[in-house]
Amino acid sequence: MCGIIGYIGDRKACDVIVDGLKRLEYRGYDSVGVVTDNDGKLYIKKGAGKISELEVKLNLSELPGNRGIGHTRWATHGVPDDTNAHPHTDCTGKIAVVHNGIIENYLELKEELIKKGHRFKSDTDTEVIAHLIEEELKTERDFEKALRNALNKLKGSFALGIIYSEDKEHLYFVRHESPLILGIGNGEMFAASDIPAFLPYTNKAVFIDDGEYVILSKEDYKVKDFRTGAIKEKEVHVIKWSLEMAEKQGYPHFMLKEIYEQPRAVKDAIYGNAEFIDEVAKEISGYDKIFIVAMGTSYHAGIVGKYLFQRLAKKVPIVEEASEFRYEAEEVIDKNTLVIAITQSGETADTLAAIRLAKKRGAKTLSIVNVVGSMATRISDLVLYTHAGPEIGVAATKTYTTQLTVLTMLAIALARHLRTTDEKYLNTLEEELYKLPELLNEALKHADGLKALAKKLKEKRDFFYIGRGISVATALEGALKLKEISYIHAEGLSAGELKHGPLALIEEGVPVVAIAPSGKTFDKIVSNVEEAKARKGFIISLGDNEELMKISDVFLRMPEVDELLSPIIYVVPLQIFAYHLAVIRGNDPDKPRNLAKSVTVE
Ligand code: F6R
Repeated sequence: MCGIIGYIGDRKACDVIVDGLKRLEYRGYDSVGVVTDNDGKLYIKKGAGKISELEVKLNLSELPGNRGIGHTRWATHGVPDDTNAHPHTDCTGKIAVVHNGIIENYLELKEELIKKGHRFKSDTDTEVIAHLIEEELKTERDFEKALRNALNKLKGSFALGIIYSEDKEHLYFVRHESPLILGIGNGEMFAASDIPAFLPYTNKAVFIDDGEYVILSKEDYKVKDFRTGAIKEKEVHVIKWSLEMAEKQGYPHFMLKEIYEQPRAVKDAIYGNAEFIDEVAKEISGYDKIFIVAMGTSYHAGIVGKYLFQRLAKKVPIVEEASEFRYEAEEVIDKNTLVIAITQSGETADTLAAIRLAKKRGAKTLSIVNVVGSMATRISDLVLYTHAGPEIGVAATKTYTTQLTVLTMLAIALARHLRTTDEKYLNTLEEELYKLPELLNEALKHADGLKALAKKLKEKRDFFYIGRGISVATALEGALKLKEISYIHAEGLSAGELKHGPLALIEEGVPVVAIAPSGKTFDKIVSNVEEAKARKGFIISLGDNEELMKISDVFLRMPEVDELLSPIIYVVPLQIFAYHLAVIRGNDPDKPRNLAKSVTVE
């Protein structure tokens, strides 16, 4: 996720752009860049860091002109540094581009362009767009047509802002699977990834749809289809949100917004890794001694990883909390060990210590991380990114489901490489994986029912979350979500453990949440639910089998999905439930007491 903004009018463009970027910073904050045009010459300032620092350091207010575009970055390709910061230019320096999204075929395009003599300065996927337009301009002198030709060669998701020094009257914007909204002013026009960027100047907005591009001038805007060039009629909406509401895109909290972003985030995780996963799988395929280390929610992702590796690649990793591993494992790690660290922030002190220990002992390290350029990415041998975009809510939601997505892809790739699982089954699993964004949308439909359920159960003192096999991780994660934001005691456990102790706590009305997708141990969990039911527990079950409905007080029908993919879908209702319970109890789910987003101390 990144933020883009553009302005054309009579004001000093850099002031409007810098102001807007500050309000888009929640979309990414590792680097910033602005380009303005003054009389046919482009002026660019960019660098790694936060907008508040760079505004002063780079003297952004010096940029001349009344037309320009800006960008706040959340790195996907290439580390966050001054060179990789947007905008990116072509060889002539006449075309500058800012981009939010991922260009999936950029390596292929880059290779072709290099062969044609283009010189690249950055490691980003974005830079290919500037060179591609430059290349098209060699045969098509009309800029708009050249732009369209270039756009039709791109695969992936993109919202773009483009400035061309020779076309002094316009700015160009494009949308395909990344957000873009126009702000319609009086003698001035705006475009941005999100409404807050221009809300202080105008509340009239036009929502651009996928496959459309915009030609923006001071007085006017034209929206066209980039495949056919046909003009599109657009409706102007009047925005009634306050600035704060707009930043959360109308959601009352970042956590809820991030829960709803999961279909998009999982899709980006899939497409952002498809190209690299085989290579990484190959590199780690020779290791049999494997540790997965992480904390909190990331640790739960590690448990899912263990089941995936076991079932598909026939490898049995040891999953350990990094805080334990760092003090206990030293003597058993050597150069034949692989340590997989999972950390959304890439800055968790215990997880970093675990990676450092592994390196000191000569082990191979692979990190699965959300924040590009974070410490974990700098000290690990191999890195896979989750591409979830910035997560502002303290409780991890979309970073968890994207960690699971990456682990699933890795286990499939590993199994394929090692030929440990039937290829036909792996293909089916992979096909289902690509359908996850749709299935996540289905799971999100339980939101209203879950809100009502939260109201009903708001006074309960204890909750139990049970699962079997791979769903034990979902039980643990559901309980953690509830604890951390609603401040209600919750326990997640393997359902088989119930009668070895915890069953003593189940009495009339105690909520028991059963995570029960169809699969290897479905019959077993049905028996465990019966045990809780016999003690008059209040049974809430999540599953795809009617049999469960008969023995449950509340049954959430989940989309049918392979058991190995179920953790990605089944955790969503649990996140929503915890969210509503927190709100109903008067807590701020974005900032739970005593907790921080990134635990950088031991
Ligand atoms: C819970 C949560 C934490 C983190 C844990 C590790 O919602 O967010 O439990 O998962 O602090 O953080 P990372 O993944 O940044 O290493």
